[in-house]
Amino acid sequence: MAPSSTATTASIGGKAYPIIDHAYDVVVVGAGGAGLRATLGMAEQGLKTACISKVFPTRSHTVAAQGGIAASLANMGPDSWQWHMFDTVKGSDYLGDNDAMEYLAREAPAAVYELEHYGVPFSRTEEGKIYQRPFGGHTTEYGEGPPVQRTCAAADRTGHAILHTLYGQSLRNNAEFFIEYFALDLIMSETGECQGVIAWKLDDGTIHRFRSKLVVLATGGYGRAYFSATSAHTCTGDGGGMVARAGLPLQDMEFVQFHPTGIYGAGCLITEGARGEGGYLTNSAGERFMERYAPTYKDLAPRDFVSRCMTMEIREGRGVGKGKDHISLHLDHLDPEVLALRLPGISESAKIFAGVDLTKEPIPVIPTVHYNMGGIPTNYWGEVLNPKPGNEDATVPGLMAVGEAGCASVHGANRLGSNSLIDLVVFGRAASIRAGQVLDRKAAIPGVNAAAEATILARFDKSRNANGATPTSDLRLRMQKVMQSDVAVFRDGPTLKNGCKGISEVWAAKGDLKVTDRSLVWNSDLMETLEFENLMLNAITTVYSAEARTESRGAHAREDFAKRDDTNWRKHTLSHVNEAGKVTLSYRGVHTQTLTGEMDEAKIAPKERKF
Ligand code: FUM
Repeated sequence: MAPSSTATTASIGGKAYPIIDHAYDVVVVGAGGAGLRATLGMAEQGLKTACISKVFPTRSHTVAAQGGIAASLANMGPDSWQWHMFDTVKGSDYLGDNDAMEYLAREAPAAVYELEHYGVPFSRTEEGKIYQRPFGGHTTEYGEGPPVQRTCAAADRTGHAILHTLYGQSLRNNAEFFIEYFALDLIMSETGECQGVIAWKLDDGTIHRFRSKLVVLATGGYGRAYFSATSAHTCTGDGGGMVARAGLPLQDMEFVQFHPTGIYGAGCLITEGARGEGGYLTNSAGERFMERYAPTYKDLAPRDFVSRCMTMEIREGRGVGKGKDHISLHLDHLDPEVLALRLPGISESAKIFAGVDLTKEPIPVIPTVHYNMGGIPTNYWGEVLNPKPGNEDATVPGLMAVGEAGCASVHGANRLGSNSLIDLVVFGRAASIRAGQVLDRKAAIPGVNAAAEATILARFDKSRNANGATPTSDLRLRMQKVMQSDVAVFRDGPTLKNGCKGISEVWAAKGDLKVTDRSLVWNSDLMETLEFENLMLNAITTVYSAEARTESRGAHAREDFAKRDDTNWRKHTLSHVNEAGKVTLSYRGVHTQTLTGEMDEAKIAPKERKF
């Protein structure tokens, strides 16, 4: 049990809420890969660090990351950070910030070797080096050469291996964990500094005030805004929700990644590593159709592209199965020993969730929501941005965001596979390096804005006592259906307009929510309602941002505006939402400058993406 200081009581709506007060240099919210890497980095420097998580750390969604982590180690053949950066820039469809993408690609090898030294059990080559496999969109010679083996893997359980290692190392460095605490909201001062966070302890119902010099949001994505997603049910965009309620913007929310190979019907991930190890997709004619669309990279083209090709095959009547509504992924031609060694996890998933033995038959797959490129805008140190007239890169004192919750922006309009795990550790680590530079260790941890705290508790109390007629699960399903049908792989004006209407109706219906359980202990009804509120802030900004962007770029593929439009749209979308659900959009420029000038800028100038 972590040491706590004073306990007080707040009276909200005539009800007493005991509040336990804590003071830390740094509070990290979220214990996935990014949160744990930030926690570890802070604790290693002797900063008094708390990590708050709504689930046990090793159950965070990073545990489900399969295929690997990208870094140009060159263990399997030639590679360089410049090639990795080039692929990331092209993969982002030229919406990523070049300084952040350079930081990612340059720092990736050091971040992976650190993981190795912390104890991550990577798979090995014959000579004992870290094993690396091919992944979509990762190439050699600035896209002119063959695919590169850049994705470092621990079989197909890479996230699992990383998460367990980082949790152990964080404990070893005396980070303090507050497990099964649900973060309600950021405590913001009247002048816009973040002073801490209020959390609800799920197992005893107490309310906790975490005062800190720095809050790091590492709360993951919001895949559960959709009906079918590879994301865990805990991926409810809690960080984005807190930021939006604090009146801060979210960025590039229209860019939602569909992973080509979710198991049909179940949504579980079949890693891109399956295609990296030689797997391929076929249509109802048994044709390897990716050869037609992407003659050079075939099944290893980037995800946005492969997902669109699969969708086109299905639409044109060449889907497989009774409903001709999915695609086959073949691994049955591969050596069963290789499958057992390199892909044991998906062998099991295919059996359990699709009922197939992948050594003998294809896996039924379909593009499935997998990742949010958008999120809380940050610079490459993880400092949260609140653009102001005359300063598009103004930061919010005391607040950082890392991992899928953040938008640095290294993935722009489309993320390359295995660039997520590396994003988590590079930027988790960057946040701790920055904290070491800027935090005044001697300064006292300040008090908090009492009015802000009262507002947070009042919102909590209101949700707890919501007494309408609509169960949260009903309204959540409505939201998920709007997102699934109107903000999909392909979009166009009418469906997006319909999506705006639908999501605004769901917003309006929140006034009629019913929470049945009024208790404070293990109240999953209340927790799901609070999560739903967070999902809605993410969902509504996604739909409105998508409707406004009249071009196609990366994962945002509009049938009515089929081309990328760099003249008008090479810019980040910023979205604010008010309490009435009104979304206000503005824009901020893409960082076209690199970090050091060591990358040939001509190589990363926008051009048509071909594979
Ligand atoms: O396909 C996969 O293993 C997923 C990796 C990723 O999203 O980076």
